[in-house]
Amino acid sequence: MGKEILALPLLLQLEKEQLLQDTLLEEDVVHLQVVFQFASATRRLKLLHEVYIKTKIYSGENSLSRLEKFKNENIWIICDGFLVRSGIVKGILKFIDSSNNVSIFDKVIPDPPLTVIGSGVAIIKKINPSVVIAYGGGSAIDTAKGILYFAREQNMIDKVNFIAIPTTSGTGSEVTNATIITDTETKIKHAIFDDSLLPDEAILDSNLTLSVPADITANTGIDVLTHALEAYVSNKANSYSDALAEKAVELVIESLVKCYNNGKDIEARSKMHEASNLAGIAFNISGLGINHSLAHQLGGRFKIPHGLANGLLLTNVIDYNSQDVSTLKKYAKLLYKTGMVDKIKGDEFAVKVLKEYINSIMKIMKMPMSLKELNIGKDEFHKVKSLMAQNALKDGCTKSNPRKVNTLELEDLIGKIYQ
Ligand SMILES: NC(=O)c1ccc[n+]([C@@H]2O[C@H](COP(=O)([O-])OP(=O)(O)OC[C@H]3O[C@@H](n4cnc5c(N)ncnc54)[C@H](O)[C@@H]3O)[C@@H](O)[C@H]2O)c1
Ligand SMILES: [Zn+2]
Repeated sequence: MGKEILALPLLLQLEKEQLLQDTLLEEDVVHLQVVFQFASATRRLKLLHEVYIKTKIYSGENSLSRLEKFKNENIWIICDGFLVRSGIVKGILKFIDSSNNVSIFDKVIPDPPLTVIGSGVAIIKKINPSVVIAYGGGSAIDTAKGILYFAREQNMIDKVNFIAIPTTSGTGSEVTNATIITDTETKIKHAIFDDSLLPDEAILDSNLTLSVPADITANTGIDVLTHALEAYVSNKANSYSDALAEKAVELVIESLVKCYNNGKDIEARSKMHEASNLAGIAFNISGLGINHSLAHQLGGRFKIPHGLANGLLLTNVIDYNSQDVSTLKKYAKLLYKTGMVDKIKGDEFAVKVLKEYINSIMKIMKMPMSLKELNIGKDEFHKVKSLMAQNALKDGCTKSNPRKVNTLELEDLIGKIYQ
């Protein structure tokens, strides 16, 4: 070879013309072309973003009428007992034609445990439904996903049309490929990620959220904010997830406290319902981060509601991630985009405002601000802190966190919220 080929990283920084203008032999040129093709292919690979949006979304007041299309189907509704006892389930039954065979599984409980999934799998095998409707908060939707996942894995059922109808504005599970299942023995929440878990349709009718009590409105609303923030700063974030997360945060700022103050404010409820859905699509594209990895431990171990667990951690995680300058800039960008801070004030000030905003809405919504306030024993907490950090490191959300984290740092973060 007439001229030594430059190392690939250096080559990547140079323009093709720069290299070819020199006195190269013909064989060098061919070789360089191959190297360039390889370089541009690897560049392309690095830039590849997977954006897969499978679920058809029907949003708005009349969206439940979508259920009227089902005729002569074998429909299985998965929801929690409260929705049946309170009569909320009638909100969808009235749209289902009498030609259908309808049965209800009402064993859903918050933070769905493996045992409930197991009993659901035994039932679905017998029923072999053609339509499954998950109706409720994230726990109902995740239970349905878990049952479908294991039943399909074991070839127990035929093709199912899977419809998700959220009744909380929180998890966005109606548009995600995840289900979070709790192993009650080990007290660990495990995430299964699989595109087969994506519902075929999501129906968003904010009227269904009017009955959500104030504390659950607060918890689930903070979950939405955490999804949007984690998706925004994730190391897999891209223009698609950014756009969705920005809009979700804008809607949260506009409407979460309004929903808390007046649960019957349908305009605010509708905005939160959309925010929840948008944030769900955002994190389904770009992933979450250590806020969720740690919240999963708090939920599994101490049964702290998912959104509240996220809220307790949120400002500490922002502090931790902001030590990385590019992440600090990204948080700040969000504040500029939403008009909360003028760019002239600078990035550090913007992140300070973000943390103050979170603290103040949590206080307005009367959310507990520490594990101590939740009556979690100090000794018990310190005994399991390190194990929770180890499990958080293994959680599927950790890999998309913008800063690489170790167990000690996770332990430190979780320790900060005891007080
Ligand atoms: N799959 C995902 O992508 C994903 C994402 C985030 C969280 N999650 C999981 O979702 C679960 C949390 O879901 P959630 O926050 O929606 O809470 P939830 O589903 O556990 O419901 C909380 C409570 O609200 C009640 N409720 C629901 N709808 C109501 C209504 N319309 N009126 C009155 N009460 C109502 C329920 O009965 C329950 O008691 C956790 O297990 C969490 O790990 C899943
Ligand atoms: Zn969440």
